[in-house]
Amino acid sequence: MNTSAFINTITHTLPQKATYTWQTPSNIALVKYWGKSNPQIPKNTSISFTLNNCHTITTIEFIKKAPEEIKDQNIDFELYFEGKKKDEFKPKITEFFKRILTYCPYILEYNMTIRSKNSFPHSSGIASSASGMSAIAVCLMSLEKEINPNLSTDFFNKKASFLARLGSGSACRSIEGPIVIWGKHPKIKESSDLYGVKFPYKIHPIFEEYQDTILLVDKGEKQVSSTVGHNLMHEHPYAENRFIQANQNIENIITILEKGDIKAFINLVESEALTLHAMMLTSNPYFILIKPNTLKIINTIWAYRQEKNSNICFTLDAGANVHVLYPKNEKEEVEKLITDKLSKYCEKNHYICDNVGFGAKQL
Ligand code: DP6
Repeated sequence: MNTSAFINTITHTLPQKATYTWQTPSNIALVKYWGKSNPQIPKNTSISFTLNNCHTITTIEFIKKAPEEIKDQNIDFELYFEGKKKDEFKPKITEFFKRILTYCPYILEYNMTIRSKNSFPHSSGIASSASGMSAIAVCLMSLEKEINPNLSTDFFNKKASFLARLGSGSACRSIEGPIVIWGKHPKIKESSDLYGVKFPYKIHPIFEEYQDTILLVDKGEKQVSSTVGHNLMHEHPYAENRFIQANQNIENIITILEKGDIKAFINLVESEALTLHAMMLTSNPYFILIKPNTLKIINTIWAYRQEKNSNICFTLDAGANVHVLYPKNEKEEVEKLITDKLSKYCEKNHYICDNVGFGAKQL
C-alpha cells in the first residue's frame, strides 16, 4: 500500500457538527525505533507492547466553517489540556495537521476544539506523544468514517496509525494491541514503514498478560528530545550495524513471543534497552539520559533475578525511568520487591502499575 491510498478526496457531504471522544494508550517498545528519515520513516522495524493504564483521552469537536471563513490552508483549532487552554502545545499540533493535510483536507473546513487529558501525570517523564497523537488521529478517522460509512475497520486502523506516525513515530504503535510492529520486515508480510500492524503470529498467553511497572526515576522534561536523538543517528558511526541488529532482533522475537521463551525474551529486551542508550552515549554530540538511580534499579533487578530465579527484567525508553516487565504469575513477589527495594529510587517514591492492553477505545 502506498501513501496515495490514504488521500481523502472530499466527495461526500461534510457534517455541520460532530464530536468524538477516544481513549488511546501509550506503548513500550521491546525492539526500539531509534533513527528515521523523512517523513517519519523508521530506519529499522520496531515492536511494542501496547499499554493499558497509561492513556490519553481526547475529545474533538468539529464545527463546520461558513464558506467565507475557509481561507487558504488555515488550520483553526483551540487546544485544552486537563481543562486549561494550552497555547504552548499548539505549534506541535499545527505542524502535525500540516503534515497530514494532503490526507485529511477536510480539517480546513472546520473549527476544531481539542480537549485532552492523560491518565498519568504530565510531568512524569512518560512521553505523552504516542497516546496524544494517536488520540487525535482516531478522532479524525471517526469524522472520516462519518463522511464515508463504508470505510472498513482495517482501513480505519491503518490510516489512524499512518496519521499518528506523522505526529510522532512511536504513536503509530498506539492504535491496536497487545503487540504491534512498525517498519517493513521480510518476515512479516503485512508490515509497513507507513503504519503499525498487529503482531500477525500466535502469541504465547504469558505475553498477553505481561505486567509493566514504570518506575518514575525522573519526572522532569528530557534534556534531549527524541527527535534530536533520532537525527543524531544520521552521522552515527555504529548506526548501520544497529539497524541490522534491530531487524535481526525482530526475527528472533517472533519465535520468542510464539514459544513463550521468557529467558530469551529477557536477554533480547534488556540488550535492546541498553543498546538504545549506548547509541546516545556514542552519538556526537553525546548525551546521557539515564541517572544514577536508573543503574541502581537495574543492578537490583539483576541481583533479584539471580537470587530468586525470577523472570523480572527491565526496559528503558528515551529517559531515566525504568519499565519493569514481568509475567502476571510473579506479580505478588515483584510488587513486594518494588515497594521494599525499588520505589526508594523513584522521585517521591512514585511508580505506575500497568499491563499489556488492547488498543484505542471510542468512548
Ligand atoms: C526511544 O516516537 O518519540 O521511545 O518520531 O521523533 O516523535 P518522534 O520520536 P518518538 O521516538 C521514540 C523512541 C523510543 C523508542 C520507541 O518507542 O520505539
